[in-house]
Amino acid sequence: MTIKRIDHIAIVVENLDRALGVYRDALGMAVTDVREMPEQDVKMAFLPSGDSEIELLEPLHPDSGIGKYLAKRGEGLHHICLEVDDIEATLADLKAKGSQLIDETPKQGAYGKIAFIHPKGAHGVLVELVQRDA
Ligand code: CO
Repeated sequence: MTIKRIDHIAIVVENLDRALGVYRDALGMAVTDVREMPEQDVKMAFLPSGDSEIELLEPLHPDSGIGKYLAKRGEGLHHICLEVDDIEATLADLKAKGSQLIDETPKQGAYGKIAFIHPKGAHGVLVELVQRDA
């Protein structure tokens, strides 16, 4: 199995429009999409940079997982996502090496199969793995 690239970096924000004032307007990054994703309880903006992108996440409800995260930790880095060529093999490898996983098996995400490694197993950073749909 191979890590192909940093797929995206997700930042949780209180207000997407205010955050776009920085990332789009001040930094001049292009925004390819702004979308509400009720099933993940977020409103998202996608800002590609090179082979990766920044995702800005605004929780839709304060009582959701990500809403509680924002209330507890404040705005900031939520997770990084690594694209892998074979997510099953990557998870099996991590398990064999004793990593702390949130998802032992992949689930279907917006653009492919995803799984999360617990921050406790990744030196304080929530790490998402994605195997993009062909
Ligand atoms: Co993500």
